[in-house]
Amino acid sequence: RITAVCSGPLSGKRVVITAGPTREPIDPVRYISNHSSGKMGYAIAAAARDAGAQVVLVSGPVSIPEPTGVDVRAVVTADDMLSAAGQAVDEGCDVFIATAAVADYRPDNCAGDKIKKTSEDMSLALVRNPDTLATIAARPDAPFTVGFAAETRDVEHYARDKMQRKKLNMIVANDVSTPGIGFNSDDNAVTVFWRSGQQVLGPESKAAIARQLVALIAEQIQ
Ligand code: CTP
Ligand code: CA
Repeated sequence: RITAVCSGPLSGKRVVITAGPTREPIDPVRYISNHSSGKMGYAIAAAARDAGAQVVLVSGPVSIPEPTGVDVRAVVTADDMLSAAGQAVDEGCDVFIATAAVADYRPDNCAGDKIKKTSEDMSLALVRNPDTLATIAARPDAPFTVGFAAETRDVEHYARDKMQRKKLNMIVANDVSTPGIGFNSDDNAVTVFWRSGQQVLGPESKAAIARQLVALIAEQIQ
């Protein structure tokens, strides 16, 4: 069910957000994944809802509560995430925000039975996964697109490069080498870049950062 408030900076806007990790199965009991609590994406979903938007949250497996008043669509793999996000954008989307930690590669096939260990070492063949954010940003009817870049060094350089390469309107750069910031934490510190400006948000709670990010996005789409 979607509840919307009648006023607010994103009133009448449709926002699609990806969050959490993806899981790429190796066999029925194992998978490849990334660190991601989903907290930042869920906080942005709540902030966009509070700003009056209709929000679809395409979420990988996380262990935090669903925000109320948001249409949550659960996915597992990067392929699932691409199709669910594409469908949500087809339904109408003004702003697309990708916070998900998508696995860049998946095993080239998932074994039907549990793989038994042997005395030998083993290696896994991996194939590239599709890029949800780049795919949405490349659509002729692309919404305003916002990406996240979690980096351990040269943060601004890599973030600006991603914004340009993926043709994004905005990118939120996260230095995940700072202890107590990012991944599992309730707090974050980010720098937001857009074509004509930049702004540092935090360090403070992910909820507070989410509200400020939503305000910045609302300003940009005016
Ligand atoms: N992203 C996505 N689908 C993917 C990979 C990334 O939608 N398959 C999105 C992320 O949600 C994030 C942005 O793209 O908003 C940047 O993700 P990141 O992993 O930092 O970028 P990559 O292009 O995968 O580059 P790399 O991992 O090599 O730094
Ligand atoms: Ca990646």
